[in-house]
Amino acid sequence: MNFLIEKLKEKNELSYEELEHLFKGYLENKVTDEEMTKVLKTICKYGLSENEVFSLVDIFIKSGDVLEENPDFIDKHSTGGVGDKTTLIVLPILASLGVKIAKMSGKALGYTGGTIDKLNSIGVKTDLTKEEFYTCLEDVGMVISSQTDNLCPLDKKVYALRDVTGTTNSVPLIAISIMSKKIASGASKILLDVKIGKGALVDNLKDARYLANLMIKIGKKYNREVVCMLTEMDNPLGSNIGNSIEVLEVIDILKNNKQNNLTYLCKEMAALMLSMSKGYSKEEAMAQVEDAITNGKAYDKFCEFVYHQGGNLEINLPDCEYILAKRYGYLNEIDSRKIGTISMNLGAGRKEKDDEIDYNAGIILKVEPGDDIKEGDILAKLYGKNKIDEDDVYDAFNISLFKKKQNDIILEIIK
Ligand code: URA
Repeated sequence: MNFLIEKLKEKNELSYEELEHLFKGYLENKVTDEEMTKVLKTICKYGLSENEVFSLVDIFIKSGDVLEENPDFIDKHSTGGVGDKTTLIVLPILASLGVKIAKMSGKALGYTGGTIDKLNSIGVKTDLTKEEFYTCLEDVGMVISSQTDNLCPLDKKVYALRDVTGTTNSVPLIAISIMSKKIASGASKILLDVKIGKGALVDNLKDARYLANLMIKIGKKYNREVVCMLTEMDNPLGSNIGNSIEVLEVIDILKNNKQNNLTYLCKEMAALMLSMSKGYSKEEAMAQVEDAITNGKAYDKFCEFVYHQGGNLEINLPDCEYILAKRYGYLNEIDSRKIGTISMNLGAGRKEKDDEIDYNAGIILKVEPGDDIKEGDILAKLYGKNKIDEDDVYDAFNISLFKKKQNDIILEIIK
């Protein structure tokens, strides 16, 4: 063990067999949590070569069931952020346009949200059997389920350890984790949203580009088309952060009642996936996406999906507390990491793996970056049983006399 860790430190490439000995050994409980923590920390510090990354992707994929590559199957994945409910908006748009889409999603941990918790908050059943999974896909044209225990079990075990050992933000480990799951689940075309900024695992453009290119290279090895969007995550995505609270924003956007950074990103994502899937030009794809929203078909598809998987859309939020502006100025930024942490502390997320979530807890932001703020304006509404220090919330709003230029949320697209 120590010999292999020394090799990693010296950047002396580990063979497939050596990596298998470590990681398969961990899955089989022959390598302890303490030993694997040392391995992960060494990887975080010293990185991995491309060959080592490719070997580990293969070892992760082969740790469980592998679905055959399906040429019609398109998938999406985000590296995780605050207020990211894109899956719940993009999938119904695509399904309403005849693109069948099946997705396995994860739960929230730390200050980033999880699609599964958002769905469970409105009673949607996500622990589907194989038969239920395919019936939903056939009947509705879309399905979202939690990741099964036998798809990349090695990622499940390693990710849980990364989460509690401060080793989540290693670029090679993120690439291995995401790509092994996407390849094992059979998608032939994959859209990846690589988030950059305060509320993301990657906080700079250089690392984000490296991560995107690495995932594209892994995709090529398995003959999968991978497109990466690099998107900003200094500010929360959209205005609602929580679980059922986020579903309310999904409904607003699908009903064409709300235009914000989330609406823009979801339309761009859906158009890109539609062109990847059907070969349409970007303009043609965008026109179809706009139509699906304005003619109500995307919203109808969302309702059909929710009801088919046993959910309901009656969301009643409890009383809230208001956060008011103490000064005038321009709102230059809403710190997404702080907002994510406050939402988690309100009860919307888990501090520990097995914590219970308060599904109606969270935050609704009433202002957007770039807004002109007056003293006394409502900045946010807070929901949840846990008490939060109002000053901590106020601190997340960067209000200044100097106006900062707001960047496009989509920084780059890499193919
Ligand atoms: N999402 C994943 O599935 N894995 C990571 O390591 C990071 C984000």
